[in-house]
Order: sequence, then C-alpha cells, then structure tokens
Amino acid sequence: MAETAELILDGKSITLPVIEGTEHEKAFDIGKLRDQTGYVTLDSGYKNTGATKSAITFLDGEEGILRYRGYPIEQLAEKSSFLEVAYLLIYGALPTKAELDNFSGQITKHTLVHEDMRKIFDGFPSATHPMAILSSLICALTGFYPQSVSPDLGPEEMELNIIRLLAKMPTIAAWTYKNNMGHPLNYPRNDMDYCANFLYMMFSFPTEKYEINPVVVSALNKLLILHADHEQNCSTSTVRLVGSANASLYGSVSAGINALWGPLHGGANQEVIEMLEAIEKDGGDTSKFIAKAKDKNDSFRLMGFGHRVYKNFDPRAKIIKVAADEVLQALGMQDSPLLKIAQELEQAALTDQYFIERKLYPNVDFYSGIIYKALGIPTEMFTVMFALGRLPGWIAQWKEMRENKEPIGRPRQIYTGELERDYTTIDAR
Ligand code: CMC
Repeated sequence: MAETAELILDGKSITLPVIEGTEHEKAFDIGKLRDQTGYVTLDSGYKNTGATKSAITFLDGEEGILRYRGYPIEQLAEKSSFLEVAYLLIYGALPTKAELDNFSGQITKHTLVHEDMRKIFDGFPSATHPMAILSSLICALTGFYPQSVSPDLGPEEMELNIIRLLAKMPTIAAWTYKNNMGHPLNYPRNDMDYCANFLYMMFSFPTEKYEINPVVVSALNKLLILHADHEQNCSTSTVRLVGSANASLYGSVSAGINALWGPLHGGANQEVIEMLEAIEKDGGDTSKFIAKAKDKNDSFRLMGFGHRVYKNFDPRAKIIKVAADEVLQALGMQDSPLLKIAQELEQAALTDQYFIERKLYPNVDFYSGIIYKALGIPTEMFTVMFALGRLPGWIAQWKEMRENKEPIGRPRQIYTGELERDYTTIDAR
C-alpha cells in the first residue's frame, strides 16, 4: 500500500499522499491541503519546501553528496569538460563524441553578439557592477531575438535559444570587464575552446600576442563544472519562478543573475576576497574577525562559511581546496598572503565551538575566490564567473520546468497587516 501521512486538524483526519524520489527522499504532497482544510503551510525561506520534482541534480547535505544526472561531482570535475557537463545537465545524458562535436560546433558558430550590443555598454556609468551589466545584456538579447519571448517555442527554437545563450554569455561577460577597464573589446576566437576563448577575450590586447596557459584553462574548466548546477538554490528557483510565468529563457536567466549577485548567494565569492584583504590590511589577526563573526551585536559574518543545505561539508569546497593548492603551486604563488590568511581562518573556525555547533564549514565560495584571483580575474568579476558556470544549470532547470508544463509559481502568505479600515482624507489624518 502506498505510504501516506495523516494530519489531524480540529479532530478531523486528513490523509496526505507521500511522494518518494529515486534517492528515497520523501515529501508530503500538500497540493490539495487548502481545498481540503482552508489551511496553507508556512515555511519562511523555504527551508522545508520542495518546490518541484526534478531529475537534474541530486544533493545530500548531510552526506556531502552532489551528483549531476547521477554522476558524482568528483568524477565530473576530474574527467569531464565544461561543455560536456553542460550537455549532460541540459539533455540528461553524457554526449557521444559526435553529439559533443556538434554541440560545441553549434556554440562556436554563435559566439558573436550583434554589433548594436556594443552601443548598450556606452550607456552604463563606469562604476556599474559587471553583474548589473550582465543581467541587463542577457535580457537585452530578447530585443535581438524577439521570437525568443514566445510561450509556444518548438523544440528547434528552444534549442537555438539555448545554444545562443551558452555561446554569447562568455562574450558578454568578458566585454563587461573590458568595457569597465576602458580596453578595446575582443571578438571571440572560434579556433579556441570555450574556456580558452573566454580567457582570450578577457585578457588579450590587440597590441600583443596572448599566450594561453593550460594550467589556467584547466582550473577554469574545473571551477565552471563545480558551479554548473545546485538544484533549487535561490537563483535557480528564481529562474524557474520567472519562467513559470512563461517568461523567455533570456528574461528568466537575467533574473537569476540578479539573484546570484546577492552577497548571501553567489556574491559571497567577491566578499570572501574582500574580507581576506581587509584582514590582511588590518594586520592579519584572524581571531579578531572570528570574534566579530560570533558577536550577535555585529552584523559581520565569516563570508564563505555556512550553507543552507550542506551541514557536514560542501563537496565542491573539498575539490576546490585541492585545486587552489595545485593552481597556486603551478603559478608559483603558493606563498600568497591571502592563502595563508584563508588557511588560518579555516583552521580557527573549524576548531571553534560556535562554528562546530552550527555546522558552519567552508563552502564553494571560500576557495574559489582565491583561484580566481590567482588566475588574474578581477574581484568584481568573481560573481560573473559563478554566473558563467551556473548557466547550464539554469538552462536545464528552465527547460525541465517548461517541458513538464509546470503551473505558474504563486506562493500563498499569512497576512499580518491591518484589519479593514476606512479611508480618511489627508486633512483628517
Ligand atoms: N558566519 C557567522 N555566523 C554564521 C554564518 C557565518 N558565515 N553563517 C551562519 N551563521 C550562524 C547564524 O548567525 C545563525 O546563528 P544563530 O543560530 O546563533 O542565530 C546560524 O549560524 C544559522 O544561520 P542561518 O543564517 O540561519 O543559516 P541559513 O541556512 O539561513 O544561511 C547562509 C546559510 C549560506 C546564507 C549563511 O551561512 C551565510 O550567510 N554564509 C555567509 C555567506 C556565504 O558564504 N554564502 C555562500 C553560500 S555557498 C554559494 C551558494 O550556493 O550560494
């Protein structure tokens, strides 16, 4: 007999179906609860709410497990390429050689952006954060491809939108940086692979030859893979929610970019480096900052620590920590003072009762910023790098939501405001 849960309300029993996932996660289906009882559930921050069924990413926060379409993140980070992982997330299976060649070839064909896009850059004040420019320009793609906003996209049109977005995002991302620096914008190089081309557009100048460093390419590939999806996190839920209103892929991803920008989410990688630099500037005393993080009267948090879901360790952080050591070694930067401060901070926090009791461990952002810095990526661009990595996940989740014809997302609330009262004219208030 199928498992059910019983809810007793005012002496009346209500039976709730139990839904079980393939990894045996269980949920009560409360879809009919309001109709049956007049009650809704309240779950601020969605800590216990399954917003959807999804076959893309499995995450077990207690065990520190992360798998894309069943494949462990550790294996993908070691053996795969970013585009292969993108294909896996979006289409559900690892590609054959022919499929991957075709996918990469399609992406390569679409790397250029419309020349009018360059003019949009001119309108942004020079202090504009790259994430603001990125989200604006991704949304602006709807202007260049107006058919992309149709709610009735056929599979071929959907495919083309996906390819365009994967192809153009690195170009737009690199240009946000070049534009802010006042450097000439580099056109993509289609003889290079995805990561190498991005680095070329970021760092080359028309005046000199740009040498691609394979250590840097390989580190970037790994970082993008580790960020590629993370089930129903804040930005992904945003992409699905916006998309559930039948908004376009570009509009939905643009909204996700804004969610990711928040310092409690993807913006944390920028904050980590800024925090490490502040500690260094202050004389390097990590205990002072640990004390600040523990002080409930101080809003300071140890950036790069803690996670809503991982309560033992973040498997991505484990991989990134090893990668950071390798990259710094390979680039001769193993004595970096920021790395030393990061290591001290990690040690201090991992042995401190406050952090132990609350299960606060380094998360993916703690070490990613150190690698980005070693690769020469400017701090302001860190969250853009996260967005570049998360893009296949957003696309896969948007596509799944569309293909499953999920209803528009529309949460309920518990109203706590004024009871009905009559309007008074301004002179009577
Ligand atoms: N430093 C100090 N105290 C912390 C921290 C921290 N980084 N994180 C959580 N706490 C404390 C918090 O004050 C609370 O203490 P108490 O129980 O005494 O009130 C307790 O730990 C639980 O925290 P919470 O805010 O209820 O936990 P949450 O699940 O709502 O928040 C989080 C998760 C990631 C937003 C939070 O840990 C945080 O702000 N971390 C720093 C920002 C960060 O690194 N974000 C990147 C997350 S990983 C990348 C991504 O996927 O977005």
